[in-house]
Amino acid sequence: MQLSFGAPATVGSGSWVVGLAEGAALSGAAAKADQASGGALKRAISVSRFTAKRGQAVEVLAPAGLEASRIVLLGLGKAADFDGNAAENAAAEAVGRLSKAGETEVVLEIEAPKGSKLKPAALAAHLAMGAKLKSYTFNHYRTKDLADHEMKVAKVVVATADASGAKKLWPALDAVAGGMFLARDLVNEPPNILSPAEFANRCRQLSKLGVKVEVLGEAQMKKLGMGALLGVGQGSERESQLVVMQWNGARGKGGAPVAFVGKGVCFDSGGLSLKTGAGMMGMKGDMGGAAAVTGAIRSLAARKAKVNAVGVIGLVENMPSGTAQRPDDVVTSMSGQTIEVLNTDAEGRLVLADALTYTQRTFKPRFVIDLATLTGAIMVALGAENAGLFSNDDKLARRIHEAGQAVDEPVWRLPLGPGYDKMIRSKIADMKNITGTTNAGSIAAAQFLQRFVEKDQAWAHLDIAGTAWQDGEQKALAPSWGVGWGVRLLDRLVAEHYEG
Ligand code: BES
Ligand code: MN
Ligand code: ZN
Repeated sequence: MQLSFGAPATVGSGSWVVGLAEGAALSGAAAKADQASGGALKRAISVSRFTAKRGQAVEVLAPAGLEASRIVLLGLGKAADFDGNAAENAAAEAVGRLSKAGETEVVLEIEAPKGSKLKPAALAAHLAMGAKLKSYTFNHYRTKDLADHEMKVAKVVVATADASGAKKLWPALDAVAGGMFLARDLVNEPPNILSPAEFANRCRQLSKLGVKVEVLGEAQMKKLGMGALLGVGQGSERESQLVVMQWNGARGKGGAPVAFVGKGVCFDSGGLSLKTGAGMMGMKGDMGGAAAVTGAIRSLAARKAKVNAVGVIGLVENMPSGTAQRPDDVVTSMSGQTIEVLNTDAEGRLVLADALTYTQRTFKPRFVIDLATLTGAIMVALGAENAGLFSNDDKLARRIHEAGQAVDEPVWRLPLGPGYDKMIRSKIADMKNITGTTNAGSIAAAQFLQRFVEKDQAWAHLDIAGTAWQDGEQKALAPSWGVGWGVRLLDRLVAEHYEG
C-alpha cells in the first residue's frame, strides 16, 4: 500500500473520506463533500441511524456531479476523546471497509474536531499509521483466491493542512509499524517452518539495519551452564538457540543498555507433560515474547533511536521424545540455582531463567524487561484486554503502564511477595517449576523469574499469553492472528525515557 501526504485538493477517482464528531454540525471537509454532492451526504445521514459514534459510517455511492466513487463520512466519537489512537482506529475502519467494498484509492480528509487536542501534522501521521497497520496481511501460504485475502486499497493519500509536518513525524511511526509487522510475521509462521534456527536467521536480517546479531548454539550454551534452557530443548530434533541483538545508537559511548528478554518457544507441545490436542493448538505462537523483542529492536534500529538496547531471546522447541526432559528431573541453571522440573509444560520460565542470567551478567543493563506467553492463568485473570505486569521497581512499572496506555497496549500490574514465593519451594532442589495448585498461577511464574533477578537490578515481566495472538474478534489495528503486541509499548517506553 502506497501512503502519501498532500494538501487538500479535489478528489479524483477513488473514495473521499471525511469525519464528524458526535453532536457536531457538518463543517470543513465534510461540509465541502456535502456541497460537492449536492447535499447527498446530509440526506444520507438523515435516512440512516448515524450519530457519529466511533466505528459508524455513512456512504454515498457514485455521487452525482463528482468523479469520486464514493463519499464516506466516518463517526469520530466525542471530540474531547479524539486522540492519536482514535485517529488510527478511524483510518483503519475506513480502509478496512473500503477494501471490502473493492476500492483501490482512498483520500483521507479527516480533520480534528473542535475540542480535540490533536495538531494537523500529528493527526495526519496517525491516520497514515492506522491505514498502514490495517494493511497487514499474511498470505505466504495461500496458492488460491489470493485476491480475496489481499488489501484492495493500494493507494492512500492523507489530505492535511500540514503535509510537511506530517512527513517529519511519519518515519518514526513507519519504523514502529515495520517492527510490528515483523513480530506479526514471526507469530503467524507455522512451526514446521519457524524452527529455532530459522527464527535466528530472521534475526540475522536485522544486521542490515545496523543491529549486531550473535547466535549461540547448544555447545556454547552448555559451556555457559544453561541447563534450564537446554533441558527444555533436549527432546527436540532441532537445536536450541540464544540470539543476542544489540542496537547501539546512544550518543558517545552511551553506557549501560536497556534490555529486553523474550520467551521463544517455537512450539510448545508441553513435552512429556503433553498438552491435549486442543491445548496444543496455537502453540506455534509461544514465541510471541521473542517476536516482540525482535520487533522492538528492529523498530529502534529503523528509526535510529538514540539508545543502547539489547534484545536476548531464548529459542527452543518443547517436544516429547526419548531424549526429552522428564517430570521429576532436576536441572542446574546458569545462575547456579537448581530447579526441580515437576511439569515439563511449565517450560517458559526455564528458558527465561537462563536468558535473564545471561543478559544481566553480560550487559549490566539499566533495566531488564522480559516478555513471555507464560501462563494460561493470565487469561483467566485479565482476558485479552490487558497484559499482566510484574515488577520489583515502582518507577519502571509506572513507566511501562503509561507507555501501554499511550499506545493502546494496556497492562495491569499484579503483586509479588514472599507469601507467593513459598509456593515454589522444592523438597529436594532450590525451587520447583510449578506450585501444585492452580491458585495464583501467573504470580507463581513471575515469582520463579524473580529468583533469577540479580541484586539491585530493575526488572519487569510482561505475561502476554492473552495478548500475543487473537482467536476471537480481531482488533481494529491488528488484522491477523499474530498481534505484534509489545513492540509499540517498548518503543514508546524507550522514546519517552531512555533516549538522548
Ligand atoms: N505457553 C504456555 C502458556 C499458555 C497457555 C499461553 C495457553 C497461551 C495460551 C505455558 O508454557 C504453559 O504451558 N503453562 C502452563 C503452566 C502450568 C503447567 C503450571 C499453563 O499455563 O497451563
Ligand atoms: Mn508450556
Ligand atoms: Zn509455553
